[in-house]
Amino acid sequence: MAAQNRVLIQGGRVVNDDHSFNADVYVEDGVISQIGINLQLPGEFKVIDAKEKLVIPGGIDTHTHMQMPSMGTVAVDDFCTGTKVCCDYSFHMAVTWWNDKVGEEMETIVKERGVNSFKMFMAYKDVMMLTDAEIYQVFCLCKEIGGLAQVHAENGNLIDECSKKLIAMGITGPEGNAMCRPEEVEREATNRAVTIANMAGCPLYVVPVMSRAAGDVVSTARKEGKVVFGEPIVAGLGVDGTNQWDKDWRHAAGYVMGPPLRPDTSTPGYLMDLLANGDLTCVGSDNCTFNANQKALGKDDFRKIPSGVNGVEDRMSIVWEKGVHSGKLDENKFVAVTSTNAAKVFNLYPRKGRIAVGSDADIVVWDPQATRKISASTHHQAVDFNIFEGQLCHGVPVYVLSQGKVVVEDGGLVMVTQGAGKYIPRMPFSDYVYKRIKVRDGLNQPKAVEREPYKGPVIELNAEP
Ligand code: URP
Ligand code: ZN
Ligand code: ZN
Repeated sequence: MAAQNRVLIQGGRVVNDDHSFNADVYVEDGVISQIGINLQLPGEFKVIDAKEKLVIPGGIDTHTHMQMPSMGTVAVDDFCTGTKVCCDYSFHMAVTWWNDKVGEEMETIVKERGVNSFKMFMAYKDVMMLTDAEIYQVFCLCKEIGGLAQVHAENGNLIDECSKKLIAMGITGPEGNAMCRPEEVEREATNRAVTIANMAGCPLYVVPVMSRAAGDVVSTARKEGKVVFGEPIVAGLGVDGTNQWDKDWRHAAGYVMGPPLRPDTSTPGYLMDLLANGDLTCVGSDNCTFNANQKALGKDDFRKIPSGVNGVEDRMSIVWEKGVHSGKLDENKFVAVTSTNAAKVFNLYPRKGRIAVGSDADIVVWDPQATRKISASTHHQAVDFNIFEGQLCHGVPVYVLSQGKVVVEDGGLVMVTQGAGKYIPRMPFSDYVYKRIKVRDGLNQPKAVEREPYKGPVIELNAEP
């Protein structure tokens, strides 16, 4: 067996979501096969020195849009540059219109293709937006088939009306993107989604949570015992929305996304606090990147700016810097929100999201002291802009193993084989999401009141007066 199939990560501190300990980690054929000290190891193997480093489960980005079409163009980070598809991946299914056939397809995709999460849009009127009645029906089906319902929560009708008004007032620049969809537009839709999910008895995953107001709705729902999860994205944790007012149009347009980055500068810290206290669950990126010349399609009308920002590459570093380096998260919580919680919610755990014997060897050797400066001129993404430009981050991935193979060494990409990533099918009815729902269903079946049939008088309709 070639030594590259055997790797010893030596002298590091293993960090899982529940505890940390000093141990060596030995990987064979893509799987973690031993953890401990003084391991008995066979033949040749590659040794990675992890002294003073953390050994953490590979990050799981719960939300990306590679190669996504928008406004007649296509996002520049595709499945090659965005992931090189050299790491394992899975899919959510977007339900962008609704009829019986879509329902049948959802059932098929759960049973035969290993998809267990379905995304609906409450925004993007006349493009992807579903009505409340449709959302209710999809939620009911999700519950029946064990899927997790996800919503992009913004009131699409209000956005449509308000943006028309702004354009008529001569507000055509990127700031219009934030002005036509203020916090209450997100709060109202988030609250509506929670209500619809509760009526359907279905768990809910709100994606992304971009405002204090929407974060509070998720928090309250959880306090009330509802099975609701909220996902902030790295953009919302790492920058605020004031850039949309920048005098330089290209710069301002680089920050256009929906729900928008909020001009309130306290929002990123507030969302990080909600992550720290467990009210928000997983950090995604919503990576959906367009070059400046593509964004310029909306130079005269902010509604035509292709929507989306970067984040897939910088997600872990920004969360470490804003979360752990700031003292809000500990290293275990960092692992929880960047990896383990996602594995649990989307039913990949403990195959993914944990450093344990038998788990897949997707591992990061993380240097918490090292720093790097983020820049579009050095990032690996295809996009020509980076919303985190110039930010200095503590926390650098020194080594990354994907499927047990070293793909990042001394901070640089090595041995990246396009197409090596495997599609990971996911079973429905994730315990983490559905266990409580099953018990509640057993206890709370609606029942008709038993009574004698009514035999009294009934008025005649349309009778002559
Ligand atoms: O602006 C964004 N987030 N673009 C990607 C599509 C979406 O809404 O998820
Ligand atoms: Zn969205
Ligand atoms: Zn998205």
